[in-house]
Amino acid sequence: MSFKTSVIGLGYLGTTQAVILAKMGHSVIGIDTDKAKVESLSSGKLTFFEPGLAEMLGEMLSSGRLRFVASYPEELREVDIHFLCVGTPREENSDEVDLSAIIDSATALAKFLSPDALVLGRSTVPVGTAEKVRRLLSEETGSKQKVAWNPEFLSEGTAIRDSLKPERIVIGVDDKESETILRQLYKPLTDSGVPLLAMDTRTSELVKVASNSFLATKVSFINGVASVAESVGASTTLLAEAMGLDPRIGSQFLRNGLGFGGGCLPKDVAGFQMQAQKAGASEFASLLQSVSNINRSRVQQTLKLAETLIPELSGKSVAILGASFKPNTDDTRESPGLTVARELFKIGALVAVHDPVVKLDNSLEGLVVSSELDLVIKEADLVIIATDWPTYKELDPFVLGKTVRSKYLIDGRGVIDIPGWQAAGWTVLALGEGTPSHG
Ligand code: UDX
Repeated sequence: MSFKTSVIGLGYLGTTQAVILAKMGHSVIGIDTDKAKVESLSSGKLTFFEPGLAEMLGEMLSSGRLRFVASYPEELREVDIHFLCVGTPREENSDEVDLSAIIDSATALAKFLSPDALVLGRSTVPVGTAEKVRRLLSEETGSKQKVAWNPEFLSEGTAIRDSLKPERIVIGVDDKESETILRQLYKPLTDSGVPLLAMDTRTSELVKVASNSFLATKVSFINGVASVAESVGASTTLLAEAMGLDPRIGSQFLRNGLGFGGGCLPKDVAGFQMQAQKAGASEFASLLQSVSNINRSRVQQTLKLAETLIPELSGKSVAILGASFKPNTDDTRESPGLTVARELFKIGALVAVHDPVVKLDNSLEGLVVSSELDLVIKEADLVIIATDWPTYKELDPFVLGKTVRSKYLIDGRGVIDIPGWQAAGWTVLALGEGTPSHG
């Protein structure tokens, strides 16, 4: 069964959503008030990097099922399901979620909403947002409107796979009709074995932040273990491998290093902490506060290691490998590597950043970002691996050793083979890896 759909908000989530809906055979109008973004997408160019998505975008534009517009068109009256995919960033100087884009887009949509249409929220929101949108739409249109929530769990870098073969689909529905529509929409996926869980909207709104906070807790747990391992001369990598083989623990999200970044985990932990505090769950709020604190401490630990190698960093050249918050994306939001770069820059180091896909951006004040590794590494006094891009695993310590000024390296992501680099004359310090003292 195919639906007429609209996708409102063409950021990372909305663009992926629009392309995937077209791929599933639905007709899609993608809407964003940013004209340049709409023009770019209409000509087949993505505004971010995501493996495989640009090709699928081109294919879907040619299919005639997908188009993008910069204002709300009359045809929206014919649409069956409107996907709300606008951004829900943190408010400035606070951990509260800024819902203004949700409110603005719902208000604009109300003028074109048919009474039978379903408005489906996809953005990550605080509890009660679906109810708020439902009230707003009912007031604006003068009739009862269907609003459901359907949190997305896709990760940057694997967005297509995560959308077409998700581990689970969660639908938050407060009425039977919405549930029926969503079960029809997802039938191709549920027929292929994907579990679908239907629940009330409030529970569905919590699933996403609770899941992301749990993932963040796992990362911070292993990073907390890493601080102990560092000081007692143990190896976190070996420790995590041993822990992860217990299926109750599991090996995923147990890689220690510079910690989590991106547009979701840091924001969701902070937002959930705020909700926990408001709900009176202060012990849980402190747990989440510790998760964020441990995460930030990894940047400080990296700077400490840098000062161990070079006590006076001012005027020294530091090459940071990796600007994106993780591999296979050009997203630099809350990138721990860039925080290290900025901190080093502040204390007078000459910082150059390499990244295979991130382009030079004004927000990186004063930092040079280049995809030319030779340029970034040339005459460096210190190299820091900040993102686990697979290409850094392949680096040849002998070749690199000829380019740098001093063979000092900090591995912030457990990427390199330490003995191999040491054999090539490098002094290596790695986050989470203490130096065992034998004897
Ligand atoms: C996350 C969730 O995984 C996804 O389900 C949700 O829909 C959106 O938020 P994403 O932000 O793309 O996805 O990043 P993710 O793959 O979760 O990684 C987050 C951060 O944790 C990265 O900075 C990564 O480097 C770090 N990380 C991850 C670790 O430091 N160690 C690990 O073991 C795993």
